[in-house]
Amino acid sequence: MSATFTLGQENTSPKQSSESLTGTWHCQFDSPFGLQTYHLHIAINDAGDATAHAEVDTRDEVRKVEFVDVKVDNDSLSFAEVRQFGDREFRIEYSGERKGKDLAITRSFGERGGQESLATRELPKPPPKEDPAPVVEVKIDCLIKDAFKDSFLVGMAGDLPSRYSEEELKLAAEHFAAITPENCMKPERVHPAEDRWDFERTDALVQWAEKNDMTIHGHTLVWHAQTPNWFFEERDPETVKRRMQQHIETLVGRYKGKLQSWDVVNEAINDGGNSETAKTENLRNSNWLQTLGPEFLTLAFKFARQADPDAVLYYNDYNIESGPKHASSMVLLERLLADGAPIDAVGIQGHWRSGRVPFEDIEKAITDYASLGLKVSITELDVTIRGESGGQFGRRRFRNSAPPTVDDLNAQADDYARLFAIFKKHEDVIERVTFWGLNDRRTWRRGQHPLLFDGNNNVKPAYASILALADSDDDAAKRAPEPPKNVRIEDGGQGDYSATVAFRFDRHAAVSTIIPMDLQGRAKSHHFLATSSPFGFLTWRTGPFAVP
Ligand code: XIL
Repeated sequence: MSATFTLGQENTSPKQSSESLTGTWHCQFDSPFGLQTYHLHIAINDAGDATAHAEVDTRDEVRKVEFVDVKVDNDSLSFAEVRQFGDREFRIEYSGERKGKDLAITRSFGERGGQESLATRELPKPPPKEDPAPVVEVKIDCLIKDAFKDSFLVGMAGDLPSRYSEEELKLAAEHFAAITPENCMKPERVHPAEDRWDFERTDALVQWAEKNDMTIHGHTLVWHAQTPNWFFEERDPETVKRRMQQHIETLVGRYKGKLQSWDVVNEAINDGGNSETAKTENLRNSNWLQTLGPEFLTLAFKFARQADPDAVLYYNDYNIESGPKHASSMVLLERLLADGAPIDAVGIQGHWRSGRVPFEDIEKAITDYASLGLKVSITELDVTIRGESGGQFGRRRFRNSAPPTVDDLNAQADDYARLFAIFKKHEDVIERVTFWGLNDRRTWRRGQHPLLFDGNNNVKPAYASILALADSDDDAAKRAPEPPKNVRIEDGGQGDYSATVAFRFDRHAAVSTIIPMDLQGRAKSHHFLATSSPFGFLTWRTGPFAVP
């Protein structure tokens, strides 16, 4: 695969280049799919012919790359990586130059400009290990899926089981009643070319979910992103329509009776908008819209219904709870219903940011959709602690951000409690609430600490605050007869502690009770579940932990 380059100049010894550039280098590049570590091997033979290959560590896999067009000139070199996405080929260009003992590499991709990385002979230092101890130690007495089992399903997203640890698989199966495949059912993964399907991971997921009694929500059939271009080649409406139908028939048909529901159309509405667009559907100018017109949504729903008459069919989108985008969503849904599109439900993705969750909009959106006779699910819930939220691509930052503070975690816990109070209040409409990921490591918002478990699978305060809400006042009253102001913490027999419990009443619940105390580095504070009961709150026996 590798092209060769012979050094032409007599007075330039190939040996000099070999010494300078040959051997193994390590460098890292950021990509939309996370940090990628390249282990680059460069060889130059006596004739001066150069080859280069690499193993690339990505979040999910180790990818082997053979570079092409490798050219070496004294202390500099260039080469290219050709990648196939569906039927499309992408070419990533690299150029490198010795800088002292390192090799400065620039990588450029299409119009995107260059990204630089310093390749070294030594392996890059692994990111600082997260402290395995939680910032706040939290006790829970009930699983979230059980706490809401009479109200709605509580789910998570991920391409389980492959590449998840035993501990993570156990966590997922224990706490969640539903699963959404995060990527493996998307067109580019499952149907990379018109005549090629890859069902390995989707079959494995379905099998694993069935074994663990989890319901499965399919994601996603018709979308502008992560969809290969072969669907739209020739741009002939009849051909595109036939491809859409075959895609839906094959995929939905394969899992008929096994998947409970599907995101049929994802993210069809434009971002932003204004008072003018609010009166319209304001559809995104996707390949689907360009080739099939606004009719593409109705078609997709009809094909999905034909393929599995029992599956619950969703329109799914982000930020549709607020502003002009919400208004557009209502215009669109009303049209779909009037046109006889077999749509059952709306998925509010729910990528929100702590401190800025639009609670009132969310509640209004739920009742608005219900007024159309549609069910609602929160399909991709995460509440980020820092940085961007929203459903857009390419906004991920803070991958290696500092751990959250106790205040961050409490604020997030309050946000989650208020959200679940709204969901529970509308339990007659809400079918399912799915978190987008499993823990703060298995999330597309890594570094922003958005979920209920930290990166080491420790329960976060948000989990306890949500549970506190699920407790009816009656239950809480039974369990917490006296409102203790001073709580003695029993440590399992190794010593006595006492601490003053600070508690506060949120709009809906007294959540997160923090007792600041130093626990030998195991935790900076202990977190006790408090219930919303006006009669008091619960405390938990902790320990055992070491006492000096
Ligand atoms: C995201 C996945 O979480 C990432 O792993 C992937 O790289 C990009 O897609 N809205 C959606 C989801 O409907 O499919 C997206 O998932 C997040 C935004």
